[in-house]
Amino acid sequence: MAQPLTIEDLRIMARRRVPRMFYDYADSGAWTEGTYRANETDFAKIKLRQRVAVDMTNRSLASTMIGQPVAMPVAIAPTGMTGMQHADGEILAARAAAKAGVPFTLSTMSICSIEDVANHTSAPFWFQLYVMKDRDFISRLIQRAKAAGCSALVLTLDLQILGQRHKDIRNGLSAPPKPTLANMINLAFKPWWCLKMLDTPRRQFGNIVGHVTGVADMSSLGSWTASQFDPKLNWDDIKWIKDQWGGKLILKGILDPEDAETAAQSGADALIVSNHGGRQLDGALSSIEALPGVVDQVGNRIEVLFDGGIRSGQDVIKALALGAHGTFIGRAFLYGLGAMGEKGVTATLDIIRKELDTTMALCGLRDIQNVDERILVGGREGAIKRLAGG
Ligand SMILES: Cc1cc2nc3c(=O)[nH]c(=O)nc-3n(C[C@H](O)[C@H](O)[C@H](O)COP(=O)(O)O)c2cc1C
Repeated sequence: MAQPLTIEDLRIMARRRVPRMFYDYADSGAWTEGTYRANETDFAKIKLRQRVAVDMTNRSLASTMIGQPVAMPVAIAPTGMTGMQHADGEILAARAAAKAGVPFTLSTMSICSIEDVANHTSAPFWFQLYVMKDRDFISRLIQRAKAAGCSALVLTLDLQILGQRHKDIRNGLSAPPKPTLANMINLAFKPWWCLKMLDTPRRQFGNIVGHVTGVADMSSLGSWTASQFDPKLNWDDIKWIKDQWGGKLILKGILDPEDAETAAQSGADALIVSNHGGRQLDGALSSIEALPGVVDQVGNRIEVLFDGGIRSGQDVIKALALGAHGTFIGRAFLYGLGAMGEKGVTATLDIIRKELDTTMALCGLRDIQNVDERILVGGREGAIKRLAGG
């Protein structure tokens, strides 16, 4: 394919290059995938105000997220098994993020371990924590993130049990893939992926394997999650985690204003409005529809960040206009990674940066920090009405 110009170009390229079970793992949502689809399509309902004849020189996308300077308010979201979209995926994505001046978040369920990513990159990254029943393991994991110099802990609250994704079950998702006939045939059509994967030792869950005892089947994400993740996790545990960590804390997976209120009172530094990319509660509000309610409730007391459905710079600016202080991208970077490795993640960030910059200018602004509801047709209320279909 010629030079990719959109995230959709990268998605199509990734679908060709990445083994089916891992491509499907990324491009899927829970149950009917209704919330997954709404995350993307709801953005299109919001309309931007075109402004003309304003000085567009000297534009700036620079901002901060949890007080850290960022080249643009777009971080890389934590995603499990990133090292299966492309060999050494977490290291490559972290490098691309550092070069672009944006934060990278490493998932607990990564292939490359915390230490491995720290040893092969120079910028501090953020670490995302899933809480498991084995609290000793969690305590050690937090200490490992601290020792590796991670500059924020992202605590995910919306995945104590797994929302079912049918494709993962049908595909027998595992890392590494099991040598079944169907997998072998599929891999035969993915020579680029196989070549890179043969060249790396990183093919298992690096943060877990060798660090937890008595785990029977680590390769299957589904069964491991069901047996290890702590369904009892509740707000009281957050204080324990906050004390263990002692640094910047971000709570991920808030969709409801009541939960946002509790999150604000927990003393965390930020929350992420997120429905896990439509992978958990199917039938929940899209992230962008949920955002204004959370901002109303707690926006003046805790930094509100956002993820879900972002596939362009226009999407980013709409989230900012509705009150998000910063955003995260999941699939957009995974598609870039699967398509072209580190270069692909750089392409993702370049595409989004250019779109964001041009869109901001065409809305009549020069500084991303001045984006607010005035760039929306009908302002905030107009956007909310359009989202609700009114
Ligand atoms: C393949 C995949 C794996 C994910 N794994 C994790 C994870 O390990 N931890 C987590 O907190 N969120 C995880 N997420 C959710 C993302 O962090 C983020 O909330 C979501 O991808 C945002 O939606 P988007 O993909 O439309 O940008 C995952 C998402 C995808 C697509």
